[in-house]
Amino acid sequence: MKEQDTIQNTRILDGKKVATEIKNEISESVKAMVAAGHRPPHLAVILLGKDGASHTYVGGKEKACREVGFTSSVINLDSSISEEALLDKIQSINNNPDIDGLIVQLPLPDHIRSEKITEAINPNKDVDGFTAANFGKINRKNSGFLPATPQGVMELLKRYKIQTKGKHAVVVGRSHIVGSPMSILLARPGDATVTLCHRFTKNLKEFTSRADILVVAVGIPGFIKKDMVKEGAVIVDVGTTRVDDPNHPRGFVLKGDVAFDEVATKASYISPVPGGVGPMTIASLLMNTLKAAKLQH
Ligand code: GUN
Repeated sequence: MKEQDTIQNTRILDGKKVATEIKNEISESVKAMVAAGHRPPHLAVILLGKDGASHTYVGGKEKACREVGFTSSVINLDSSISEEALLDKIQSINNNPDIDGLIVQLPLPDHIRSEKITEAINPNKDVDGFTAANFGKINRKNSGFLPATPQGVMELLKRYKIQTKGKHAVVVGRSHIVGSPMSILLARPGDATVTLCHRFTKNLKEFTSRADILVVAVGIPGFIKKDMVKEGAVIVDVGTTRVDDPNHPRGFVLKGDVAFDEVATKASYISPVPGGVGPMTIASLLMNTLKAAKLQH
């Protein structure tokens, strides 16, 4: 074990390192696919407007595609586009046999109904795993696409050989794209006993401090403090909030939902922000796109 992987006796869940391993495996699969006469997997990303954070995230997805040998297309559209025109665009990609995976970067402008848009994506190309069809298949082995972030968290736990079976897993946050599917995956295939907490949970600390595995996805920097976690717990921080920092060249830093420095002294494992769940979400998106390409073949 390398020294930088630990803080005292706490191990860091190094999502960046694990994501690199996964990307190497995907690269090998792409080479085999191309050697067998197929085209490489192709991911299309629809991006509306000029939001800086969304552009950065999409840039990260494009870079990851390049690294593993995928083709990627970013379709930049004006944020004033009508819902109907956006639906038409999605339809044309749904019908394009040269594209395997499609994601529409969120958030969308207020005049567009996000649910209407995500539901318009062909479930066989929905590599974010956001459609109701894919949500409904979460517990069906090897069918459909799992939502990228929860799948990334499960993979991170698996690669660190962290047992979830019979453990008490507590998820904080019940969003459609992270908390809710996370709680389902931890229960099955994870075989954990799961408690799903959210903004209306009373006495949150009573639940979090009983967690063997605590997954936090609330988007409030430093929300989980040392007194809210059990000694030896596994802490997975899904939060990534941009916090202004005039001392940083970019003018901001990314902060997780967990007060890392204090909680790390009590945890057995903890994922950092950045470098924890974020890279795993991208790796998971690549895993889904590879699967989508195989489906097309
Ligand atoms: N915006 C923030 N995270 C995500 C994500 O995982 N997928 C999409 N489509 N948009 C996002």
